[in-house]
Amino acid sequence: MTSAPSPAQTGDSGPTMDKFPDHIAIIMDGNGRWANGRGLPRAVGHERGVEALRRTVEAAQDIGLKNLTVYSFSTENWRRPVSEVNALFGLLKAYVKRDLNRLAQEGVKIRILGTREGLPEDILELVKRAEERTAENQKFNLCIAFNYGGREEILRAAKAMARAAENGDISSSAVDEAAFEQFLDTRGIPDPDILIRTSGEYRLSNFLIWQAAYAELVFMDVLWPDFGKHHLLEAIEIYRKRERRFGGLASGAA
Ligand code: IPE
Ligand code: IPE
Ligand code: MG
Repeated sequence: MTSAPSPAQTGDSGPTMDKFPDHIAIIMDGNGRWANGRGLPRAVGHERGVEALRRTVEAAQDIGLKNLTVYSFSTENWRRPVSEVNALFGLLKAYVKRDLNRLAQEGVKIRILGTREGLPEDILELVKRAEERTAENQKFNLCIAFNYGGREEILRAAKAMARAAENGDISSSAVDEAAFEQFLDTRGIPDPDILIRTSGEYRLSNFLIWQAAYAELVFMDVLWPDFGKHHLLEAIEIYRKRERRFGGLASGAA
């Protein structure tokens, strides 16, 4: 865990002040610009991005976080040149191959969010292996959003729910938020408390658009390959100073 909150962050401003997040989601952005700035090919930026991911997963475990979700390939990223798409697929493969044993031993449960449609056979196999191998783990949830788009996820969930209704497994009167969430890729994982985007861009780019309804958004200027533990801690400190109201009133305002 991080150190106790400083006196400035405690006081009578309510229990949210010293609350530690259950779930952090990250849009890992800026690999290309990191490489461009150094006159290097974009693929090198992505390679360094994987190193930052490794550091961040380790840091998240270190500080006692339970759920981390990272955005590594969007349904819109297919618009990039084939060579870049291939490089990104290759890096996912390399990451899983290299880190799976260690992550499995550390109690990490891996889940890949997103549609399997369009993914090549070797990636599908690897995804399956990673999920099966770590299925019983409970210490830390690592969700990798790969071939993921929030709208696609919601539509896929809606279709699955409609099918369940057609089969008589669910009635339309039972359709509420909790029932719908069972059809999302994130079922069983709490909504993110903090959503970080690196590289100074201020948008969600179709990431967790259902789940992030009340996430605290933290936009950081750092390019993803330079991201490290202190950025994660900084985001948590920013979060701790925020007051979450969920549509209610500020504490002490009533
Ligand atoms: C993030 O870095 C990685 C992916 C989107 C796959 P980018 O490749 O988007 O880097 P920039 O935004 O071009 O700098
Ligand atoms: C979002 O970044 C997707 C990932 C980080 C995987 P992009 O770089 O693809 O997003 P845009 O195009 O700037 O919105
Ligand atoms: Mg980008």
